[in-house]
Amino acid sequence: MSRPFGAGERALLLDSKGRRYLVTLTAGAEFHTHAGFVLHDELLGREEGTVVRTGSGARYTAVRPTLSDFVLKMPRGAQVIYPKDLAQILVLADIHDGLSVMEAGVGSGALSMTLLRAGAEVWGFELRSDFAARARANVASFLGPEALERFHVEEHDVYEGIPRADLDRVVLDLPEPWRVVPHAEKALRPGGILLSYLPTINQVSQLRQALDESSFAMAETVEVLVRSWHVDGRSVRPDHRMVAHTGFLTHARLVG
Ligand SMILES: C[S@@+](CC[C@H](N)C(=O)[O-])C[C@H]1O[C@@H](n2cnc3c(N)ncnc32)[C@H](O)[C@@H]1O
Repeated sequence: MSRPFGAGERALLLDSKGRRYLVTLTAGAEFHTHAGFVLHDELLGREEGTVVRTGSGARYTAVRPTLSDFVLKMPRGAQVIYPKDLAQILVLADIHDGLSVMEAGVGSGALSMTLLRAGAEVWGFELRSDFAARARANVASFLGPEALERFHVEEHDVYEGIPRADLDRVVLDLPEPWRVVPHAEKALRPGGILLSYLPTINQVSQLRQALDESSFAMAETVEVLVRSWHVDGRSVRPDHRMVAHTGFLTHARLVG
């Protein structure tokens, strides 16, 4: 069903070199580029795929941002988890609608909006109130204010404990997840999944040791490598550059 752009919506503008710009459409506003400006009014009421031009003729194609586009362009407090890892987290933690998920730390909300978009109810804990506010704003901005009904963020140090019970999932992106393992054993339901994103393998070792000494089983650690390809006529090969490392994903299930 066609849905023209409206005021207050985000549009992703792509230039002829594939560069991407995220703008919030506002009546009467202008998007300034090195090659002149584009009037937002030329996009309001138009369909995705519309091409607009600056005064000097530079072309910009407008589409709605995907979750991945938004995560890479949204305002950040803390470093976000990259889309390649967000995608794998959904599968490894088997996230689906109706699940009760505890997430810490919430940071900029990239993982929060991914969990919410998959239909989960998210109980988020974050040390910093400014980050919690940023995450809430990002969630409302991309998923709409109604998503906040399933996003409960509290300022709380999760190393002190998890003030929830009967959770289906515990998803962690913080420096010392091994300190959360004993709390997760109490807060998760049997069969529940703990997943942790960690940048270094030393942290992974310490987490795996804590999991070995706990009621968690089936622990696994993976990393996600995504290699993009250059495709131009007969020149078809892997791109020269790639994001070689972001983090490791460790997941385990609570058993008796
Ligand atoms: C890397 S950021 C999380 C980014 C988030 N996953 C995202 O994709 O946007 C880590 C966050 O954990 C928070 N944090 C660190 N230790 C914490 C703790 N003990 N309890 C709650 N939050 C904590 C930090 O304040 C920081 O915002």
